[in-house]
Amino acid sequence: MAKTFYITTPIYYPSGKLHIGNTYTTVLCDTLKRYKELRGYDTYYLTGMDEHGKKIETVANDRGIAPIDHVTEMAEETKALWDRLNIRYDDFIRTTEKRHKTVVQKIFERLLDQGDIYLGTYKGYYCMPCESFYTETQLNENHTCPDCGRETAQLEEESYFFKLGKYQKRLLQFIEQNPDFITPETRKNEVVSFIQQGLNDLSVSRTTFDWGIKVVSNPKHVVYVWIDALSNYISALGYSTDQNQKYDKYWNGDEVVHVVGKDILRFHAIYWPIMLMALDIPVNFKLHAHGFYMMKDGKMSKSKGQVVYPDIILKRYGLDELRYFLLRELPYGSDGVFTPETFVERINFDLANDFGNLLNRTVSMINKYFEGTINNLDLTPTAFDDDLNKTITEAVHENKKHMNNLKVAQAVQDIWKLISRTNKYIDETMPWVLAKDEEKRNELQNVLYHLSESLRHIGILLKPILIEAVPSLFNQLNVRKENTTWDSLEFGIVKMYSVIKKPIPLFPRLDVDEEVEAIRELLLGKDEEKENLKKIPEISIEDFVKIDFRIGKVIASEKHPDADKLLVSKIDLGNNDIRQIVSGIANDYTPESIIGKHVVVVTNLKPVKLRGILSEGMILAGSNKKTLEVLFAEKLNAGDAVK
Ligand code: MSP
Repeated sequence: MAKTFYITTPIYYPSGKLHIGNTYTTVLCDTLKRYKELRGYDTYYLTGMDEHGKKIETVANDRGIAPIDHVTEMAEETKALWDRLNIRYDDFIRTTEKRHKTVVQKIFERLLDQGDIYLGTYKGYYCMPCESFYTETQLNENHTCPDCGRETAQLEEESYFFKLGKYQKRLLQFIEQNPDFITPETRKNEVVSFIQQGLNDLSVSRTTFDWGIKVVSNPKHVVYVWIDALSNYISALGYSTDQNQKYDKYWNGDEVVHVVGKDILRFHAIYWPIMLMALDIPVNFKLHAHGFYMMKDGKMSKSKGQVVYPDIILKRYGLDELRYFLLRELPYGSDGVFTPETFVERINFDLANDFGNLLNRTVSMINKYFEGTINNLDLTPTAFDDDLNKTITEAVHENKKHMNNLKVAQAVQDIWKLISRTNKYIDETMPWVLAKDEEKRNELQNVLYHLSESLRHIGILLKPILIEAVPSLFNQLNVRKENTTWDSLEFGIVKMYSVIKKPIPLFPRLDVDEEVEAIRELLLGKDEEKENLKKIPEISIEDFVKIDFRIGKVIASEKHPDADKLLVSKIDLGNNDIRQIVSGIANDYTPESIIGKHVVVVTNLKPVKLRGILSEGMILAGSNKKTLEVLFAEKLNAGDAVK
């Protein structure tokens, strides 16, 4: 019977649109599932949504809709996104589903009955405007709210607590005895030192809001959202219901992997195994905590306009381009950075040049020199053949090792080593030179056969990564399905290649400047002005008051004799102060249209000559890509101060 492989993503909060950071986790799990399938495993891939909690309730309230409507909409959107990305999940769990709630309620009651959970009081400080609790150590020095700085009230609230400390020793022992329980190693070390500091009892219920799973025996409490969420990994398998069929098969099967981001490591490495221990469920999973996708300037953040959404990449470039970048650029154990430049370079260098071109050249040469068909002539291998074959064997071996250890970025690089080696083989053997010599027909055929076999191996290894390009590669080389399996990773088993007439390019080359610009605008929603604004340093109020803004009345205006964009105006600033100001507003205003208007002027700018005409100040205007608007002041008079 096939071995089983159960893989999970975290369940996502339906608080906003998912970006490439969250998408990474989902694509990574999809890749691992496909890899295990290729290796003959019986796989099960779970993802879903974490729909309860105060934050979600607030988001729904802000939208003026019921929480259930909000989360349903978000779940549909997320599922549709995964479908567009061709994610092969087997189940999509939502924590608002009955099948999940029932299990959470059972778990809670059981832990309560056993005495692992007890009722106590939670002492904290409450900030009304933020609707949040804080411990004393979290507050500012004067006991004000660390978030908004306002007064807090001391409050005691009834809460259930989970005795984590009871399992502390057992968990440490477990981690020690299972050295690959948490990967990478650095994450494991973080967890161990956290546990060693001592685990406090964890507050596992709330009474201050409703949007959650009710505690059956005391319904004014809702279950803490992490106890609720973590249970999804077994509730979705029908644990304690559904005759445990999937649960027995996959949870108690061969391999279980939870993939999470480093920010939610502790919940998965401490609370979850302790919950399982308390429930007498075997801690059968391996936990992998990956790093973050960052932007050049730091974290991905919607408020800073620094966020990349997968759909835009998908539409403009394609699914494999997105998958390849995500999987390749996040190194094992650290963070990755998304920049428009690296994205375009990866497509151009790795996908279009190295990989796409290799296939293209191979198919073209087989057509040109052998009318589309070549055979394995089994000649005595040359030194180049030997070296290429050695690289193929190594690539398969290394790729397998890295994929088994969840080191996907490295596994991708193993394949590219083989791609580079194969390209080098073309340079070494120079088929175009062999083609000129009638006596070297066999040698030439042997070279093209090696290229095809290498490409077939590359295709098999790439199956979990590039899900659209690989089928095309096999089609173009006309490889039969049985020769695309993991077991067929063996040089020489295909006897003949009969390729398509005209190669179809796998990845079009991108224009670097154009695409970098497009990504900046499309993906990051950033334009030049915003970029520039960001670079302006912060100033103090003392700096600000040095600028003298005043209302000025435009008493005359005409076009600049030497510049179409400029107007030269006379501005009355009161107290007999009349200035000449040159401003770049002629595309949007005629001289007549501003005469008589009151505008905002910076009066103490150092005078400058603009295209030969002196300008003694600046008229303020706002602009974006489409329009420019001078700031007019209707009711104020010439000379009035602006602050
Ligand atoms: N709901 C919890 C998980 C509960 S699991 C029982 C949650 N959800 S989340 O939507 O905020 O995050 C989901 C996943 O996305 C996490 O693994 C998180 O680490 C990951 N990422 C969020 N931003 C990320 C990047 N910028 N880069 C990579 N992964 C990122 O946490």
